[in-house]
Amino acid sequence: MRFFATAAKGVEPLVAKELAASGAQNIRPTIGGVHFEGGLETLYRANLWLRTANRVLMPIAEFPCPTPQALYENARHVRWEDWMTVKETFAVTCNCRDSQISHSHYAALKVKDAIADEFRDSTGRRPNVDRRHPALQINAYIAKDRCTLSLDASGDRLHLRGYRRETTDAPLRETLAAAIVALVEWDSEGMFIDPMCGSGTIVIEAALKAMNYAPGLLRCGDTSSGRTSFGFQRWPNFDRKLWARLTDEAREGIREKIPGRLLGYDISRPAIRIASANAKLAGLEKHLRFMRGDALKLSPRGYRGVIVCNLPYGERTEAVDELKSLYRGFGNVLKQRCAGYTAYLFTGNLRLAKWIGLRTAKRFTLYNGPIECRLLKYELF
Ligand SMILES: C[S@@+](CC[C@H](N)C(=O)[O-])C[C@H]1O[C@@H](n2cnc3c(N)ncnc32)[C@H](O)[C@@H]1O
Repeated sequence: MRFFATAAKGVEPLVAKELAASGAQNIRPTIGGVHFEGGLETLYRANLWLRTANRVLMPIAEFPCPTPQALYENARHVRWEDWMTVKETFAVTCNCRDSQISHSHYAALKVKDAIADEFRDSTGRRPNVDRRHPALQINAYIAKDRCTLSLDASGDRLHLRGYRRETTDAPLRETLAAAIVALVEWDSEGMFIDPMCGSGTIVIEAALKAMNYAPGLLRCGDTSSGRTSFGFQRWPNFDRKLWARLTDEAREGIREKIPGRLLGYDISRPAIRIASANAKLAGLEKHLRFMRGDALKLSPRGYRGVIVCNLPYGERTEAVDELKSLYRGFGNVLKQRCAGYTAYLFTGNLRLAKWIGLRTAKRFTLYNGPIECRLLKYELF
């Protein structure tokens, strides 16, 4: 079977690496995601283990769609009865690029009509659409006048791990925080410090990785609402036994202890309350600590490890002077008090980054939504 893991720009090679580690075959990264192949086990493992991908799709049809009518007609030819009955709900999302059909909402409506009309003609009834919690989530990807129809195996996007009920301002998506953690060279032994931790996302993702904790397991806990955790669990071919084996194996593989120490600081008291609550929801409170502290007073001497943080890079012009002095002051702290550490600073404002005043050892380009960002690595001697 063929699959496609969608990913933010810049993150595709990391997703490919993760897929290789979970046994996927024929892994081919492209812009916006990674193609891969395998059986149901590969699909389930991908949803359970991928830290940096947005969602996993399973293409079920591909056809030319130069016009809305062609899209409608070809979408009607798909054997929808293999995937749902008329009693089940469905929803269609669409992305269009470089095509004569350019309005994604309209294209999604065409596919939706095709499915509903097909069921109406064969059963006399139309299935209902449920945009929030559909039994079958369908994605239409239209590029260069060709449409790929896929079933969304993830359902909710994979960044929604479930441990963040509350966030501070400008939180990073869990998947982007995981991408940062993947690029950071931390051996799980020394210190891992986020001096501006906000909702704690980077530290929590680092802890999950260090414990070999499959992020998808976090979604399996709360089924009180009756909702299943992943889209594929609502498919007719769902293999309950296989899924139970994979989740059991993942639970058994969780490391009980992290040899190093994970710490998060923030100047804001509410941020520390929120980060601590998030760590608790993830069941990690024993493995990391969040404390109130000013990054400009950070003094981690005597230890070795990494300092990883997402500095504020606000869009309000009036805050720029304040931010410049934060960047310059933090650069001085790194220079004067953090020798022996490696620092990784994530920012969406390269002009502000210059105020750090240190020579970068490496730069990685990542995107926070539409904002082109950098993760800057500094060796502190
Ligand atoms: C962009 S947010 C971090 C978001 C975080 N990565 C998350 O996912 O939630 C930046 C954080 O830096 C904190 N901050 C700003 N100045 C600080 C300082 N001098 N010391 C410590 N924290 C500071 C802010 O309170 C804010 O929570």
